[in-house]
Amino acid sequence: MTDAVETQASLEAVLKDEIIRMYEEVAENPEGDFHFFHGREAAELFGYEADWLDRAPAGAVASFAGVGNPHLRSDLQEGETVLDLGSGAGLDAIIASWGVGPTGKVIGVDLNPSMCLKAQEHAAATGTTMECHEGRMEDIPIPDETVDVVISNGVINLSFRKRKVVEEMFRVLKPGGRISITDIVSAKQLSQSIVNDPKLWAS
Ligand SMILES: C[S@@+](CC[C@H](N)C(=O)[O-])C[C@H]1O[C@@H](n2cnc3c(N)ncnc32)[C@H](O)[C@@H]1O
Repeated sequence: MTDAVETQASLEAVLKDEIIRMYEEVAENPEGDFHFFHGREAAELFGYEADWLDRAPAGAVASFAGVGNPHLRSDLQEGETVLDLGSGAGLDAIIASWGVGPTGKVIGVDLNPSMCLKAQEHAAATGTTMECHEGRMEDIPIPDETVDVVISNGVINLSFRKRKVVEEMFRVLKPGGRISITDIVSAKQLSQSIVNDPKLWAS
């Protein structure tokens, strides 16, 4: 391994621990002090319909940690299969499951197995189902050409290997499939002190 590859691998491992810690904290203690918008206030700001937020389990709404509204352009149809990358506590997956209806399917992928369990519990509480796979968006644990739509909300910015994430999205999409993601980008090159700070990268 070269020094650069070794440094990236160790930063990635530290970052994974920090991501797990931070989003578990949002899920366990949504009233806590976070330096990013979250919960119902954030969802309303991004234009989530009040009806969705009233229907979804309070825990999924309170733990919402997205950065935008991928449902505005996902144009989901009955019977489609949707993949939610970084499904967190499940609010976006639950909204997607209403879009594809009982003949459709929603698959979540999250690197944190306890977030997967939480999302599945939240989905079950609304009478919908989602299957959530523990795994990384850089190596999506589902077969080629199996998904109609990929959604994701505030997750791809967390990756050190964004090109690989994009390649993986195209691998799992069926021909003619669609992508609807909301995320954050920086117009400026981030300083090394930010890049090397797992707390800032994770949020
Ligand atoms: C911003 S939240 C997702 C918001 C979610 N859509 C919602 O409805 O609240 C981030 C989630 O992405 C997951 N995550 C972060 N990096 C990941 C990766 N490399 N692969 C898969 N999931 C990841 C985290 O564990 C966390 O649950």
